[in-house]
Amino acid sequence: MHKNIDNIRQEFLNFFKKKGHEIIASSTLIPDNDQTLLFTNSGMNQFKNIFLGMDKPLFKRVTTAQRCVRAGGKHNDLDNVGYTARHLTFFEMLGNFSFGDYFKNEAIQFAWELLTDNNWFNLSKNKLWVTVHICDSESYDIWIKQVDIPNEHVIKIGNNTDNFYDSDNFWQMGNVGPCGPCSEIFYDHGDRFQGGPPGSLKELGERYVEIWNLVFIQFNRQSNGHLLSLPMLSVDTGMGLERISAILQGVHSNYSIDIFRKLISSISQITQVNNDNTNRSLCVIADHIRTCSFLIQDGVTPSNEGRGYVLRRIIRRAILHGKKLGINDIFFYKLVPPLIKYMQHLSDNLREKKDFIKKVLFNEEKLFEDTLRKGLKLLEKKLVLLRGNVLSGEIAFDLYDTYGFPLELTKDICLRHGIHVDQVKFDQSMLAQKKHAKESNKFYIFNKNISLCNILSTFVGYRELTYRTKIIALFRINKPVNKICAKEEGIVILKNTPFYGESGGQVGDSGQLKTISSLFQVTNTKKYGQTIGHLGVVNSGSISVGEEIIAQVNQCKRRHISLNHSATHLLRAALYQVLGTHIIQKGSLVNDQYLRFDFCHHETMTEVQINTVENIVNKQIWINFPIMADMIPIETAKNDGIVMLVNKQYEKIVRVIRMGNFSAELCGGTHAKNTGEIGIFVITKESSIASGIRRIEAVTSITALSVIHQYKKLLQDIFTSTKSNNKNILSKIYEFKSRCQKLEKEIEHLRNQQIIQESLSFIKEIYYIKDVQVLVKQVENMMLNPLTNLIDCLKRQLKSGVIVLINVNKNNKISIAIAVTKDLIENNRINALNLVRLIINTLGGKGGGKPHFAQVGINNVINTSKISTKINYLLHNIL
Ligand code: ALA
Repeated sequence: MHKNIDNIRQEFLNFFKKKGHEIIASSTLIPDNDQTLLFTNSGMNQFKNIFLGMDKPLFKRVTTAQRCVRAGGKHNDLDNVGYTARHLTFFEMLGNFSFGDYFKNEAIQFAWELLTDNNWFNLSKNKLWVTVHICDSESYDIWIKQVDIPNEHVIKIGNNTDNFYDSDNFWQMGNVGPCGPCSEIFYDHGDRFQGGPPGSLKELGERYVEIWNLVFIQFNRQSNGHLLSLPMLSVDTGMGLERISAILQGVHSNYSIDIFRKLISSISQITQVNNDNTNRSLCVIADHIRTCSFLIQDGVTPSNEGRGYVLRRIIRRAILHGKKLGINDIFFYKLVPPLIKYMQHLSDNLREKKDFIKKVLFNEEKLFEDTLRKGLKLLEKKLVLLRGNVLSGEIAFDLYDTYGFPLELTKDICLRHGIHVDQVKFDQSMLAQKKHAKESNKFYIFNKNISLCNILSTFVGYRELTYRTKIIALFRINKPVNKICAKEEGIVILKNTPFYGESGGQVGDSGQLKTISSLFQVTNTKKYGQTIGHLGVVNSGSISVGEEIIAQVNQCKRRHISLNHSATHLLRAALYQVLGTHIIQKGSLVNDQYLRFDFCHHETMTEVQINTVENIVNKQIWINFPIMADMIPIETAKNDGIVMLVNKQYEKIVRVIRMGNFSAELCGGTHAKNTGEIGIFVITKESSIASGIRRIEAVTSITALSVIHQYKKLLQDIFTSTKSNNKNILSKIYEFKSRCQKLEKEIEHLRNQQIIQESLSFIKEIYYIKDVQVLVKQVENMMLNPLTNLIDCLKRQLKSGVIVLINVNKNNKISIAIAVTKDLIENNRINALNLVRLIINTLGGKGGGKPHFAQVGINNVINTSKISTKINYLLHNIL
């Protein structure tokens, strides 16, 4: 019997546990602290700072089954899904990692043992092939001399760009960051499939599939391309769980493994589409429902930029494949329950957020239906006005980019009208967009982090705000120095410090560092890995490494920061109660003025919800809970369901902040002693900062009081200026409003009267072309409303005829309004759209409309007086 995917995952983890590795949970799909890495795309992402030497590893050897998404960014497989058997946008990467512990030898031996030993995966050695980087003779020798793989199965690859380490078999996480040469292991699926071994001309076929990548991390790539050697040599490996499962289950395609078979069969039942095992669109939909559900679970919601944009494109791609299969109903959201059923090991969170995920998918599909309809209309409009028979590539790209209209769809529709699409221009626009996306995918790390990272500072500021300590290092312009003199700026590192370094949303402290003869003004405090840096300027005297100093935090500022931080914890707990458990923190800022909390939520909070949250928080303040900080094992924290950041790798022992039984959160920040100190909590703003992400801003204590005073003053000013008081202000406002409405109506009435008068005089200018009554008239600076009113009024009086009003604006911009009565349209004498086309062909401009009413806009007309003559001429031609 074949092993199922859950057994295979567990066997991998067990193997490495036996080899001394700690099993660590998968991080979420949203990389922590990485603005430019779109999604977690590899097992090593969560350990990036450890590889770079910025964070201390808790374990030297770890193993994970990491959920990954490769859609957008450096590693992007989206366009391959549906076309190959091995590409997925969502997959699990099995990995073993060594942080400065074992290196190439053990990494290769471990991989070989797991794959070929008959107690483990027991694969035939003849079926395995490996590649090494051409410059990595060490790995080559290990494979040839120490592993019983056929020698001709070890292939040297790389440097195909003539650029050392900028080639195949050199793996990099992004454009900058940890990287190193790698050795890849391939499986030969046999000669039933086309393709040759890696490195051969036919390597792109489906026969040899890469299953495992062993990366030997030894460099940090800088944004200028330089490779800096890292302080320790590490190992990062990644094996596609779905690919190894295909092999162990005796199938070729990822989409034929157990989980996909079950999922695809459910999809075919739900959508009533026949599953004949070759249906690519069903595979695409199965892949995409996994990607989309996990992305939404991890806090991404569809939007027009960044992660949300990629999610939107994947949802739309799935829906379009649905349309290809003839599914016309909204269906995608219905696939969430079977997904939950078949992704047992990962589905706890999915189950909890099921309704939310379904709702997001449903709304998005509905929105897409509308968008498609609008796109279609736009395309039809462009086709009506098209001169010649080629649709510009830019328009096709705009439809693709803005409306998610696939090029194929645009081409299909155009073909029906005998029109071609300029594919070259389309491709150029696509390339330009890709280039732009690549550029914004840079992933910056400041050199100074590296230079400072080896110094360890101890934070003593939970209790002490003044502390006698010693300067252990000084930096000026990111370089270590021994002394900083008067008026010079720099960074001071202390052995122990009461200053809090900016982290976890809490801003850094400010204050002073004093010796008998000198003073360093600290303007901010930041963390650089394990190091706490005091940024500022020497006000008087000079300071030197080794000197004793007194470090004094600005107490008043710190107090207000702490009150706001404690209030943030209360706010989060209250939001959880009022809005639900899908609230995931997306960012926070706590300073001495206010607090800001960003979280996932799909709709605007109502006034009642905001008030309820405010009431709950204030109630907890007035109960006056003591705020307790404890150090507890992370496992206990997880078991107790204590709130923690989803993406963070926590230490073994963590700090938990408790406020009675109302809130318990892992947090390294500073807090009040009890909730009562916060005094009062007022929400000042609730807004959206991105699709699906809300932001709350709030104030506490004395700032809250001053906000209340400002509101009172504003109200007082309103009373004075409207001569009202708090009893009659509302009725006064209603009275003003109804008076305004009445006046507006009167003005409108008068305007219409005036238009009727004018139209009476226009009627005199009507003439005949053949048997049709025609009026071509120039007017000046009319707004759209009166213009359409005027045209309606003329049409009523005319009963049968064509009216063309040429509205000339100050800046020589002309808008031409054309109205045609019904009888002329029905008799095929003339239609407003035909005239629009002729006008555009002769005079230029843009326009559109319906047969009975259409408009044209022309900019920069040099000679406005000739327009009516030209239109008159055109009318003669048509009628
Ligand atoms: N980080 C390596 C990869 O993703 C293992 O291929």
